[in-house]
Amino acid sequence: MEVLRAIEPDRDPRLLVGWETADDAGVYLLDESTALVQTVDFFTPVVDEPFVYGAVAAANALSDVYAMGGRPITALAVCGFPSGALEIDVLGEIFRGGRSKMQEAGVVLLGGHTVRDAELKFGYAVTGTVNPDRLWRNSGAQSGDWLVLTKPLGTGIITTGVKFGRTPGEVLQPAVDSMLQLNRDWVTFLAEREVHAATDVTGFGLLGHAYELAQASGVSLEIDPLKVPLLPGVTELIREGLLPGGIKANRKWLDHKVDWTNLEESQAIALLDPQTSGGLFLSVPKSVAEAMQKQSKQAAIIGRARAKQEYSIRFTPGAINQG
Ligand code: CO
Ligand code: CO
Repeated sequence: MEVLRAIEPDRDPRLLVGWETADDAGVYLLDESTALVQTVDFFTPVVDEPFVYGAVAAANALSDVYAMGGRPITALAVCGFPSGALEIDVLGEIFRGGRSKMQEAGVVLLGGHTVRDAELKFGYAVTGTVNPDRLWRNSGAQSGDWLVLTKPLGTGIITTGVKFGRTPGEVLQPAVDSMLQLNRDWVTFLAEREVHAATDVTGFGLLGHAYELAQASGVSLEIDPLKVPLLPGVTELIREGLLPGGIKANRKWLDHKVDWTNLEESQAIALLDPQTSGGLFLSVPKSVAEAMQKQSKQAAIIGRARAKQEYSIRFTPGAINQG
């Protein structure tokens, strides 16, 4: 979180992950074999149906625990709602949707807090645990690693299209299904396998989160733009030009950190698109990347980690099989 960078991090030997590396969650050592993983996330509605909004907010909040290789155990709901404007039934549906996703994840809801707010906001603070030896930081990528993305991109563009009435139902549904999908199964699959670095793709888009991982790890990333999977209909919506504001902000932030050569404008837009409840982005040995791809065709091998160069990210078609 950007604001926190103005504050000196706490010094405590039990603090395993603070905010200096812009990782997904904070991690605090409890004993030799257990560390706490804690995170909080909430946002304004991304879909119209209150139940689905609640469920997506839950999947999204849980994702930051999975992105650390952790197992979520408890959650607290956080909600801001405008006075009078919303039916109490609507709020109830949001909470029920969130609850159902938490139950799917085996997470116990402990309570929550609501405040009056000009705009509806909903999400969770989530607590999980992780074996400190199996903790996935975003800072462990090694030159030569293979880069894997577990969900296609485009949820920001698709949900923005809904606000303008331009997203057809058959385009929205796969995006909603993707946002509702927990990243848990990959944590299970990778529990006994080698993971050098991981994060999940959310508001900063693939490139923003990839940049943070590269930066924290002291490597550069080489991505093959043609290998990055997009949700169906995203390319058409990009052509229509109705885009989330976050794309512009992400591009401005990354402007001099990324070598934009070999990247078409429409690809750049997709790779900068802010995701809600996006997939995991992992830096792993070749054998693990191949095992993931064998496990599910949703796992896309999209590039390689390289020794640190001038730019943190560059694009090379065919990058995967070089070196
Ligand atoms: Co995250
Ligand atoms: Co987050």
